[in-house]
Amino acid sequence: MIINTASFVKSSARLSQCPEPEMPEYAFIGRSNVGKSSLINMLTGRTKLAKTSSTPGKTQTINHFLINDSWYLADLPGYGYAKVSKKMRAEWKQLIHNYILKRENLMNLFVLIDSRHKPLESDLEFIHFLGTNHVPLSLVFTKSDKRKNNSLKVVLESYENVLGESWEELPPMFISSTEEKRGREEILAYIEKTLRYFEKA
Ligand code: GTP
Ligand code: MG
Repeated sequence: MIINTASFVKSSARLSQCPEPEMPEYAFIGRSNVGKSSLINMLTGRTKLAKTSSTPGKTQTINHFLINDSWYLADLPGYGYAKVSKKMRAEWKQLIHNYILKRENLMNLFVLIDSRHKPLESDLEFIHFLGTNHVPLSLVFTKSDKRKNNSLKVVLESYENVLGESWEELPPMFISSTEEKRGREEILAYIEKTLRYFEKA
């Protein structure tokens, strides 16, 4: 898919502030610092579209971007950041759960996972929450440039094993690296393929 236009639309602190759900939407979520904003920039080919930072917790609202005047990308705030207060964590949970369970135009939630780590409890818990609630999801293993191919395989397999214990069908899985521009074509092809299933409410 060719990205002709990509522009920032707005930041929303609650679901009701999000753009009208009249176009298909793809959202990106994952632990703080996993590389959500960087991935959005790689996919769109715009280096400064989503703000990235080496300090975790940069994105705190839902940020919408309009692509090719026909679909949205949503950059969601990260979870599992230790230095965040209990109150902020509770606010995050409310915002995200509300968004995930009620956003009518959500086509797919890309759950980003740092490929350097073995399955983490907070990631698994979140993935299971999505599964239980029938939220369409895909997994994206980020920062693959920091791993050798064989150790990457071990991480993927451990996820397949853990999820396979309770799921009949595994979600689509992608490997990405913004350093090596890896995963861009595959993820964009997946979006292109699923865009046609969008049904206006
Ligand atoms: P929050 O908004 O804080 O939740 O973070 P985020 O998930 O949006 O992460 P962000 O894209 O800001 O990236 C965090 C850090 O990881 C930055 O320093 C990026 O440069 C780095 N990073 C992101 N993707 C990659 C990657 O594929 N490879 C490498 N080596 N570094 C990456
Ligand atoms: Mg971010």
